Amino acid sequence: MINLGVIAVAGRGTNLLPLTKSQPKEMLPVGRKPIVQYVVEELIACHVDRLLFVTGPDKSAIENHFDVNPDLIRFLRVTGKEDVLRELAFEREDAEYFYTRQRHQNGLGQAVLCTEPFVRGHRFVVALGDTLLGLHRPSEVLTRMTGLFESQSGEVKGVIAFDEVGPREVDQYGIAAPRDIGAEYFELADLIEKPAMDQAPSRLAVAGRYVFSPILFDYLRKTPPTAAGNVELTDAVRLMIRDGHKVLGVRIPPGDRRYDIGSFESYYRAFLDFAMNDPVCGSGLREKLNG
Ligand code: G1P
Repeated sequence: MINLGVIAVAGRGTNLLPLTKSQPKEMLPVGRKPIVQYVVEELIACHVDRLLFVTGPDKSAIENHFDVNPDLIRFLRVTGKEDVLRELAFEREDAEYFYTRQRHQNGLGQAVLCTEPFVRGHRFVVALGDTLLGLHRPSEVLTRMTGLFESQSGEVKGVIAFDEVGPREVDQYGIAAPRDIGAEYFELADLIEKPAMDQAPSRLAVAGRYVFSPILFDYLRKTPPTAAGNVELTDAVRLMIRDGHKVLGVRIPPGDRRYDIGSFESYYRAFLDFAMNDPVCGSGLREKLNG
């Protein structure tokens, strides 16, 4: 059973300044919860419940959010606000939380490399803390991915989730060159980080969820940094494939809406969708917006 999850939350969130000047982008509200709480709930629902966050400067709000807060619980009790206590139920999720800091912010690959002493030879999940999968309920794609990984008895070294994007978006994502597309999954012939529109081998974009064999760390160490000095996770996977290791792609189901909170536009879209589907305020809001 694959139960180790690495959640990458070290990015600076510069595209969302000034909102992210003193708060992590992963803590921005989407509907009733901060973004990263949805990610954690999705992983736990897929039985990935030993969670290591790779954090960076100014990310302590994330640690505070997942701590049990006895003062707040006491305050709610003595002030007769017991009904609000259920909003804190996530604090008691049956999960373990660990934190490490990426001391030099040199890319997603380098962030994942920081987790090697924790992962210690196990298979593990990587989830990006700024990507939400699923609107009405968390996506179950990770359960499919870990199941696929385990069913291939050691032959597969990686399983990655993909989502089809528009032609103008390919330069914002890791893009798959699929070998052959089957009904359930496809094998990757190559993976290219943020290709130009005319050089993209497909429109299948890495959707922020991965399952890896610990062999990934050998490749992360060998991955040359980009011109900007970043070690890209995509480039390490590319080296793995070139060395003959099998890496599979799984498409997220059409109902699992994906929100990549990387810009104000994508943030507003996510917030609006979640607000309009809010169990209490959603229908009123929809009426108002529909004029
Ligand atoms: C990262 C990955 C990219 C992936 C994307 C998904 O890019 O490097 O391969 O497709 O996340 O959101 P970033 O958005 O951090 O630039």
